[in-house]
Amino acid sequence: MTETLSVQRNLELLGRYQYLEIQMMELMGSWACTILDPEIKIAFGRQMYQDAVHADLLGKRIPELKGRSAHFHAIPPSDGVVRLIERVWKAEGDLKRMVGLYRILKPALIEAYRSHIAMAELPADEPTVYILRHIADEERDHCTWAEKVISRLPADPLTGEWERDLARELREVAPAASGGVGPFTGAGRGTYAFTKVHGYSLLPVRDSRWDIIADPGEFTEKNWSFDTQEGKQHLLHDLLNSEFITVERMGRILADFPGIPWQMKLDMARQAWDEARHAEIVQRRLEELGGRVGMFKTSCWGWEQDVNRPDPLERLALSNMTFESESCKHLRDWIKKAKEGGDERSVQLLDFLLADEVNHVLYGVHWIDELTRDDPERRKRVLAYPKGVLEGQHPVGVRFDETTNAR
Ligand SMILES: [Fe+2]
Ligand SMILES: [Fe+2]
Repeated sequence: MTETLSVQRNLELLGRYQYLEIQMMELMGSWACTILDPEIKIAFGRQMYQDAVHADLLGKRIPELKGRSAHFHAIPPSDGVVRLIERVWKAEGDLKRMVGLYRILKPALIEAYRSHIAMAELPADEPTVYILRHIADEERDHCTWAEKVISRLPADPLTGEWERDLARELREVAPAASGGVGPFTGAGRGTYAFTKVHGYSLLPVRDSRWDIIADPGEFTEKNWSFDTQEGKQHLLHDLLNSEFITVERMGRILADFPGIPWQMKLDMARQAWDEARHAEIVQRRLEELGGRVGMFKTSCWGWEQDVNRPDPLERLALSNMTFESESCKHLRDWIKKAKEGGDERSVQLLDFLLADEVNHVLYGVHWIDELTRDDPERRKRVLAYPKGVLEGQHPVGVRFDETTNAR
């Protein structure tokens, strides 16, 4: 008779899967601002959230199986596995990273899920199988998507060797036991830990189509109005860059601050997904209106002042509560002008964007309030941060009609 998994064995394994899902979420978050290919950047925004949801689903099942202590959550499978993840994280270039994540780490996890499902005690453990099936299906979709991207990235003769070497290392550190539950079966836990550290960052990476200006004083894109075709092209082009920036800065919060509350991570990952969809929507509308990526100069002002702050709440105060709140006002103005001009397609899309942006402002308000409730000094410093940044160097001549903001 085939062995089936006990409650205790489930606990050991689910905590490991949860650790791996969180690691993959952080890898994508950490890489997003240094990835060149925009399609990968967008997919990372979406998949960061999906992997966060996977970790969340696993985290909800663990206490249902009597795993009520933190000890059962996010268990590093072994030092060897953690070192393999670190090696993939440190890989340079889009192609090596894609191969490491989508041909080595994710397939190993899918194999673990499939073996686990095959060995589940049914119907007793149907709730676990229900979750794992969903997660495994989504992970398989991620890998299918990645193969298409890998096939069109510029080839590198060393990629084959990199992949073979990682696969060999995986077999050594996480051997699939014959008849066992996939590659992450050991009973112990790893003690080795590494953090995903970035140096000081001046700008996020953009492909060669983009022309990023260095001096924010030269930046006048926001002075355009949404009531002409040309104005729409300028504003949507600038917005597209902002959407990418926000995917990237959400990713940086996830990677830079592994100790923030889990619900905050879920919110940040959700925002990364929202912004990734916004980038897709905005680029499509820009092209429908005769525009293209790189047609105007643009600015990444605010990036340096955001991602180099050691307190994530200062980042939220500046970008979510200040920039995104400003963006809501702009969107309301654009919607009004698009309506007046009979541009129903833009109205429809911008209204969805606005709905999301309001939530992003609220994420900032909520987490600053929640995490500084007992720390008035921190609250004061966090809330004062945007003012200090904006004073004397606001880069844009903001132009929108205040009367439209009541919408
Ligand atoms: Fe957005
Ligand atoms: Fe946003």
